Amino acid sequence: MSLNGKVAIVTGSGAGLGLAYAQELARQGASVIINDVNQEIADSAVASITEAGGKAAAVVAPVGSSETADLLVKTAVDTFGGLDILVTNAGILRDKSLLKMTDEDFDLVINVHVKGTFTCVRSAYAYFKENGVAGRIVAIGSPTGQRGNFGQTNYAAAKAGIVGMVRTWAMEMKKAGVSVNAVIPVAATAMTKTMPFFKAAVEADERGEAMPEFFRKELGFGPAQDVAGVIAFLSSEEAAGITGQAIGVGGDRLQVWSHPEPVATEFHEGGWDYGTMLAEGKALIEAHLQSVGEKMPDLPAELQPETAK
Ligand SMILES: NC(=O)c1ccc[n+]([C@@H]2O[C@H](COP(=O)([O-])OP(=O)(O)OC[C@H]3O[C@@H](n4cnc5c(N)ncnc54)[C@H](O)[C@@H]3O)[C@@H](O)[C@H]2O)c1
Repeated sequence: MSLNGKVAIVTGSGAGLGLAYAQELARQGASVIINDVNQEIADSAVASITEAGGKAAAVVAPVGSSETADLLVKTAVDTFGGLDILVTNAGILRDKSLLKMTDEDFDLVINVHVKGTFTCVRSAYAYFKENGVAGRIVAIGSPTGQRGNFGQTNYAAAKAGIVGMVRTWAMEMKKAGVSVNAVIPVAATAMTKTMPFFKAAVEADERGEAMPEFFRKELGFGPAQDVAGVIAFLSSEEAAGITGQAIGVGGDRLQVWSHPEPVATEFHEGGWDYGTMLAEGKALIEAHLQSVGEKMPDLPAELQPETAK
């Protein structure tokens, strides 16, 4: 097993993708700290791993604060003797269009995703540096953070922010041999169940049926387990040369996302004043307009949600 003797923390791992990540890391030999806000699901996640012969312990505490981050690292060290892998997966949605979104909706989402990722990575990296561990960090982005999405101002800010932090950390952590990557997952979970577009696929998954081929291939959408192998790989020694990347995965699809690069560059002596913008800059921008939002293929008729029929 590739992660024998390693110790991992997976935040938000009582259910959904986080649970699949924790189970796969344990299957590959790692001891896992399960974290969630709900005692019952955290306990049942631990049981699912120990009953399969793995090692796991739970920390029930909301990520966001540095206290929780420090507690996670301390528990990993006290319980399993160290820390090698951190997966910052905990997440929530509070979707609303801009004018309906409250300050609270915004702050809650930013706190769990951005601050939770920041505080946990800072605590884990401090441990890695102090103990000379070539640790592995996997942070979780989203297609919404990469491309934007209607009704997700807070979530788009959070997920784009996480990938921005990953690029910065890859630079800061390089010398210490710590790798940090973002995974951009898509999978059937409680989160995607709320989206009519994915309804037929999530229902098939819940009935224990195979995902319709269209979802697995065209949309890169499958059960949470489809994402877990990539998390385990990025957590392994085999991924030593891979850092600062954003890797998309779901269903049968694996993607490498580009980071933003200029698509057009022009120079004008003296700079770009309003007149120069009208004379030259406007045409340059208009010739290179970039699209926003994810391009979703049309659902075949039999997979359309009831309301759209
Ligand atoms: N499902 C998808 O297709 C998809 C797509 C892109 C990104 N993601 C991201 O993947 C991650 C997991 O999503 P999911 O679909 O499994 O969601 P989920 O809602 O099924 O699971 C999230 C888990 O995180 C826990 N959690 C919430 N707030 C927490 C906190 N403050 N501290 C600790 N735990 C907390 C929840 O209790 C839950 O068990 C999230 O970061 C999400 O944004 C999911």
